Amino acid sequence: ALICFRFTVLCVAEKNDAAKGIAEIMSNGRARKREGYSVYNKIYEYEYHLFGQVRSVSKLSAGDFFLHCRHSCNPVLLFDAEVEKYCPENSVPIKRTLESEARQSQALIIWTDCDREGENIGFEVIDVCKAVKSNIQVFRARFSEITPNSVQRACETLGEPNIHISDAVDVRQELDLRIGAAFTRFQTLRLQKIFPSSLANQLISYGSCQFPTLGFVVERFKAIQAFIPETFFKIQVTHETEDEKVEFSWKRHRLFNHTACLVLYQMCMEDPIATVVSVTSKPKSKWRPLPLDTVELEKLASRKLKINAKETMRIAEKLYTQGYISYPRTETNMFPQGLNLTSLVEQQTQDPEWGAFAQGILDRGGPTPRNGNKSDQAHPPIHPTKYTNSLQGNERRLYEFVVRHFLACCSQDAQGQETTVDIEIVREKFCAHGLMIIARNYLEVYPYEKWYGKVIPVYEQGSQFQPTSMMMVEGETSPPQLLTEADLIALMEKHGIGTDATHAEHIETIKTRLYVGLTPDQRFLPGELGMGLVEGYNSMGYEMSKPDLRAELEADLKLVCEGRKNKAEALGHHVQKYKAVFTESVRKAKKLDEALSVYLGEAQEYTGPEHQDVEMALPVRKCPQCGRDMVLKKKSDGTGKFLSCTGYPSCKTAVWFPDMVLEVSRDESICPTCQPHPVHMLKFKFKKGSLPPMMPLEFVGCIGGCDEMLREVLNLKYLRAGSRARRGREAGDETSSMPLVPKRPRACGVCRQPGHTRNNCPLNC
Ligand SMILES: *[C@@H]1O[C@H](CO)[C@@H](O)[C@H](O)[C@H]1NC(C)=O
Ligand SMILES: *[C@@H]1O[C@H](CO)[C@@H](O)[C@H](O)[C@H]1NC(C)=O
Ligand SMILES: *[C@@H]1O[C@H](CO)[C@@H](O)[C@H](O)[C@H]1NC(C)=O
Repeated sequence: ALICFRFTVLCVAEKNDAAKGIAEIMSNGRARKREGYSVYNKIYEYEYHLFGQVRSVSKLSAGDFFLHCRHSCNPVLLFDAEVEKYCPENSVPIKRTLESEARQSQALIIWTDCDREGENIGFEVIDVCKAVKSNIQVFRARFSEITPNSVQRACETLGEPNIHISDAVDVRQELDLRIGAAFTRFQTLRLQKIFPSSLANQLISYGSCQFPTLGFVVERFKAIQAFIPETFFKIQVTHETEDEKVEFSWKRHRLFNHTACLVLYQMCMEDPIATVVSVTSKPKSKWRPLPLDTVELEKLASRKLKINAKETMRIAEKLYTQGYISYPRTETNMFPQGLNLTSLVEQQTQDPEWGAFAQGILDRGGPTPRNGNKSDQAHPPIHPTKYTNSLQGNERRLYEFVVRHFLACCSQDAQGQETTVDIEIVREKFCAHGLMIIARNYLEVYPYEKWYGKVIPVYEQGSQFQPTSMMMVEGETSPPQLLTEADLIALMEKHGIGTDATHAEHIETIKTRLYVGLTPDQRFLPGELGMGLVEGYNSMGYEMSKPDLRAELEADLKLVCEGRKNKAEALGHHVQKYKAVFTESVRKAKKLDEALSVYLGEAQEYTGPEHQDVEMALPVRKCPQCGRDMVLKKKSDGTGKFLSCTGYPSCKTAVWFPDMVLEVSRDESICPTCQPHPVHMLKFKFKKGSLPPMMPLEFVGCIGGCDEMLREVLNLKYLRAGSRARRGREAGDETSSMPLVPKRPRACGVCRQPGHTRNNCPLNC
């Protein structure tokens, strides 16, 4: 007997268009549409032979992070605040739809886009579904196009979702959130007060990709400003025959010394006869383009079609969801073995404009793709997947570009023959090139590139002629130009800022923040605020606007993706790194004011309380108990300060200073011996008469345990709140009902930390 199981399978795609497209393909156009809780996200229901009945629900948008910050106003604490994921208001209906569908399904297939973000959204979907149905089976569909073949293959090769990729996205999101929140808050609070007339209500955002991107723009601008043109001289020789005019260029190119050039010129003028030293002719090709990856698409669309990167990606994604082109986020520029290029070229033969060219490729033995050497192992290069002639406007132009680029890549290099003529006048060498184009090949279908032939007369080796003119000309070196969007993307890619998926967004952000503007010819010009911020951070010595910090993070994210680096480790490392940069930046904040005042006028004196708070939140040392930072804090009754662990209330380590300490503040110097490194020294001021006569009343000392005298004077004890000595703990922080100190096994007699033994105290007591 045949036993037949019927499953209900829930398929979740990232966008409604994609869900619809996939449902249409899997159901052969027989899907029934039904409403869920969200008006934008429909449910398509149909039978599919894979598991029986399959249902497809469209997207759940990404759950945003929410920074949960207990200590509210001090930005440095944003680096340690608890972060929790929550479902934003507008995603609630989708969540409800998912939950109700999941309850009725036995399996879940994730059809989100196959990139990092898609994997991450996939896990959010899984979490939501598993919360209501813990035993639901989970699969991941992998595909690069929404076409019947691709969808079919994905169904036959369902795999598991990749948690590593999702982890990397979590790490990046959390870091971006913390870094962005801390710096943005710090900059905005401070600069609004210092430049009230220009920045009063302006949000001055910071992002760890945004700033290096801005940095590139500023750097180029400054290079242009600093450019000093230099005069150069060269000798130019021309030769005209009845039909042609040839210009010979000097092998020395140019000289910056006028006298030197004049001497050579005069030598030539004394005997102005040219001898043809050699005539060579060799084939020259102009290479057809490589298969298209995202960065190339963005750059070429910006240069050749004048569509900016953000718009390009928006259109490309639309073309992808409609099944016209393959997935537009790819780093691959080589075609995979399994891709049938012949049938893709065949689809294009019906077009009135490029159809004949496509047919030509087939007639001459089929596609001969030029291949690059990059592969992201996930998606093929961007290529057309379906013929259409029904698109309009920029969608049409971009589709046409993708098709023409693909056909060009599948055809042949353009072929020419280059002739080089070398001549000598006295002992100076000159040369000229002629080019004859033999076969235009790919250029026929690729109007975005030009190649011009150049005809020169026939010269014979050993023959002589008299040049028509010989001149010494003068020129000036010219500065580099402001960056175009294509230049900027190239720089971001070279320095590892952002990914192909995010370049366009970062560029958009610095535009909307008014850090940069565009010149009429679409080049990036930094604004005053942008200039001031970059110069300010540069003058702190922190290369915040330089790409290195961020590039290291991107490299680590890649390792997390590949499962070669642990999520928590990567996160912890980069949080600490940026936190250190942050605290230093706060300390040197005056430099930011100074740099900006060059552009925004005189800086007001800064007296805001946030500044003090931040100063006080600079770490003095690591907590010997939990490893988090310990910072100086004011006692709630205002009678002085104490050293508190930022892990409070979960960690209650604290150091209380006796009343004879009038003032205590953090010093920049670091104790060379105390562990764990670094332990900052503290600057003390004592009450008159409270110290032994030989000791000064003000000095810098270490409370890490190495300073015997100070330990005795302060009667140093590290105590936990809740014990007898917690007098003075903040009033609003009633802790008497808190659990008291746990049993202390063989505690060190000096610091009395539990677990710190007499012979092996981490505080070096
Ligand atoms: C320029 O070239 C002349 C002739 O070769 C030489 O004497 C002179 O020192 C050069 N001047 C400089 C500034 O190098
Ligand atoms: C590729 O497609 C063409 C035409 O669609 C077909 O004739 C050919 O057999 C296919 N090649 C492979 C290897 O599948
Ligand atoms: C990949 O190709 C580029 C240029 O086409 C070349 O510079 C690079 O060295 C190549 N890399 C490898 C690993 O072959």
